[in-house]
Amino acid sequence: MVTDVPAIRTRVAESNAPEPGAVASGPAPAAPAPAHLVAEDFHLFYGTNEALKGVSLEIPARTVTAIIGPSGCGKSTLLRSFNRMNDLIPNVRVTGRLRVSELDVLARDTDVVDLRRRVGMVFQRPNPFPKSIFENVVFGLRLLGVKDRGELEVRAEDSLRRAALWDEVKDRLDRSALALSGGQQQRLCIARSLAIEPEVLLMDEPASALDPTATARIEELVLELKSRYTIVVVTHNMQQAARISDRTAFMLQGELVEYGDTRRLFTSPHKRLTEDYITGRFG
Ligand SMILES: Nc1ncnc2c1ncn2[C@@H]1O[C@H](COP(=O)(O)OP(=O)(O)OP(=O)(O)O)[C@@H](O)[C@H]1O
Ligand SMILES: [Mg+2]
Repeated sequence: MVTDVPAIRTRVAESNAPEPGAVASGPAPAAPAPAHLVAEDFHLFYGTNEALKGVSLEIPARTVTAIIGPSGCGKSTLLRSFNRMNDLIPNVRVTGRLRVSELDVLARDTDVVDLRRRVGMVFQRPNPFPKSIFENVVFGLRLLGVKDRGELEVRAEDSLRRAALWDEVKDRLDRSALALSGGQQQRLCIARSLAIEPEVLLMDEPASALDPTATARIEELVLELKSRYTIVVVTHNMQQAARISDRTAFMLQGELVEYGDTRRLFTSPHKRLTEDYITGRFG
């Protein structure tokens, strides 16, 4: 892959996002943003294959973190670990600690249903259910026992507005979700995640199956959503990481090589491996 580094540098230089946790200038120094997602020496094995080799990082609340790195380096595995989606895979073993705020993700007595309500997930391929648009959005609410039609309608509209889809679907909520375009389906899946009011949104290559216009809409949406949610996006597209993220994590062969301010990481990486990757020397 040939990477357009000057383009990344320009875009990154244009972004003025403050470094999360940085102390503001002026008389009242801001407290450092509290970490919302924390990994401490986290290892994950698929059978004997150690896919994550002691990952430690702290992701501040209401920021966008991009995870980049070559295929197979463990990006999806790390993402899925934060809502214990890896529980569904046989022969997975983990050590270390993961936290979502004060919640100990890996503790035996952690309520996984509640964890997944707090930590929503959006996948690479839009995966709407073969149901109406409305029923897709309220699916999680129904599982949580919400029956009141009025409440379901209010929450569906609110979620569709937040996912920037309301205007396109408000007149056809009873039609099949499968008739929507790929980009609309992905925003519908985001609305479905938002309906149950998560704190965190994990997105695994959410735009890689979409055309450039639909991709741009997802990117705009991510930027809007970060005022309310902590967002982690896996992407193979470094320009996209530079456009949408405050912080970037670069992974290689199961290790976190570098995690920091996106602008800084793309313009003056601390590690040689990061520099080699972002300048397209491998990957
Ligand atoms: N369900 C699974 N069972 C066994 N091994 C797995 C499973 N999922 C992933 N792995 C292995 O774990 C390692 C990390 O995979 P992972 O899917 O997390 O990488 P990735 O960085 O998301 O890659 P990509 O960019 O291709 O999506 C790889 O060696 C992969 O083969
Ligand atoms: Mg992956």
